[in-house]
Amino acid sequence: MTTPIYYVNAEPHLGHAYTTIIGDALARWHRLLGDDVTFLTGTDEHGLKIQQAAEASGMTPQEFTDSIAPKFSNAWERLNITNDDFIRTTEPRHKAAVAELLQRCYDAGDIELDTFAGKYCVACEEYYQDEELVSGPNGDDLCPIHQRPVENYFFRLSRFEDRLLDWYAKHPTAMKPEHRGNEAIGLIKSGLRDFSISRTSLDWGIPLPWDDKHVAYVWFDALTNYLAAVGFGDESQDYTERWPADYHLIGKDIVRQHCVYWPAMLLSAGVEPPKGWAIGGWLLSGGEKMSKTSGNVVNPLDLIDDIGLDGFRYYVLADTAYGNDGDFTWEGLVSRYNSDLANNLGNLAARVATVVAKKCDGLGTAPNPDSPLGAVAATAFEQTAAQWDEVQPSKALDATWSLIRATNGHLETNEPWKAEPGPDVDLVMGDALEALRIVAILCSPAIPDTAQAVWERIGMPGKVIDQRLPDAATWGQYAPGAIVTKGDALFPRIKT
Ligand code: MSP
Repeated sequence: MTTPIYYVNAEPHLGHAYTTIIGDALARWHRLLGDDVTFLTGTDEHGLKIQQAAEASGMTPQEFTDSIAPKFSNAWERLNITNDDFIRTTEPRHKAAVAELLQRCYDAGDIELDTFAGKYCVACEEYYQDEELVSGPNGDDLCPIHQRPVENYFFRLSRFEDRLLDWYAKHPTAMKPEHRGNEAIGLIKSGLRDFSISRTSLDWGIPLPWDDKHVAYVWFDALTNYLAAVGFGDESQDYTERWPADYHLIGKDIVRQHCVYWPAMLLSAGVEPPKGWAIGGWLLSGGEKMSKTSGNVVNPLDLIDDIGLDGFRYYVLADTAYGNDGDFTWEGLVSRYNSDLANNLGNLAARVATVVAKKCDGLGTAPNPDSPLGAVAATAFEQTAAQWDEVQPSKALDATWSLIRATNGHLETNEPWKAEPGPDVDLVMGDALEALRIVAILCSPAIPDTAQAVWERIGMPGKVIDQRLPDAATWGQYAPGAIVTKGDALFPRIKT
């Protein structure tokens, strides 16, 4: 599975973190299922936009990208992102893959020289037709537009309309969620125009293998990262071992390139299209997409200093249904943290440890094999799994949280804190410990450090991420006699 590769003209912000955290949680979920996961992210380093940003900072493009790319990999490390690879489009393996893909499409006759006059938006690295431009408050066009006739190589996308529609008809669930997929099908049905795949006006890019006066258009270059990372273009490797990708996670703004251009390029080159795309909305800030010009950029690393890493990861995953837009506010972050983490999960872990200390000598007890919580746990697992499968982290976490809520309810009904120590209390606490064991596994993709802390506090040995589903979610595995510890509050309440 892949994230988009991020432009290095800006430092990582909340919008980048959003897609990357979702990818990470999905990758972790699949590892729990025992799947052999390769999770890829990286940086998109060629093109006019980067060249201009480099000029503005008085550096060569290479120096500039070398200075920004590590900011992305470092940010991902701090956010506990478990990417297996990090690709930079300035790497030799990437250049080799782009040359190979270009050559294949050229040999297939789908790339031809032609002339074209178009309006080019540097910010989008994209040509637009007049009717596609939007006018700003003063009647001006919103994007910086460059109007110039140029001779370019074109990819004959117009030939692919039927082939793409056929392919999607055979793979009806490839794009999730469905409403975003329908938008992509709409783009194809509205007619496909050939697109230019080369530039002569800049040299910060990858030369076309058959005509080195041109460099590859940045999207042709960027998309190929997904193949480069699995060894395409390197004769010593068999890229089909890890291709086609299961998921490209993308934002709604790059659907045309990923769901229309990319599969057409692959079909032309005789490479299988990816199995799936998961298309997210934007995480807005103050109702607008984050950008330097709007001055509403939120730095994810500042947020983890304020609310903790897992508090932040949880918010990103739980607060917005994937595919829809969300709006980031500090109040929203705190309110979700307090309700789901401090009051629900944190409270459950603390009260279980307190009661076990007082009523069970601090040692875990066996769950009731017939506990009503067993059925709740089974349903919670099934629904959690189904929602991760649909790439709906917020719904998956809600399903996991249903077990936390039911366990708090079970304790409140039985009030073990009021009862005398004995077999009844032992069973109730055994149920709660068993529920926490299952919760720790199921929530580990979202909040891995907390999951491990819960795991250790209830006395489970080893690493929670080494558990394997579905077996580990079956009711009744908590081993009595383990030392239960309370520790500091997992999520101290934050005052609003
Ligand atoms: N470099 C291209 C992608 C090439 S992939 C072969 C690019 N880079 S980007 O850095 O501008 O954005 C990458 C992704 O981050 C986009 O899918 C975009 O939607 C996502 N996000 C950027 N800002 C975002 C938000 N504010 N919210 C959610 N996602 C956002 O496009």
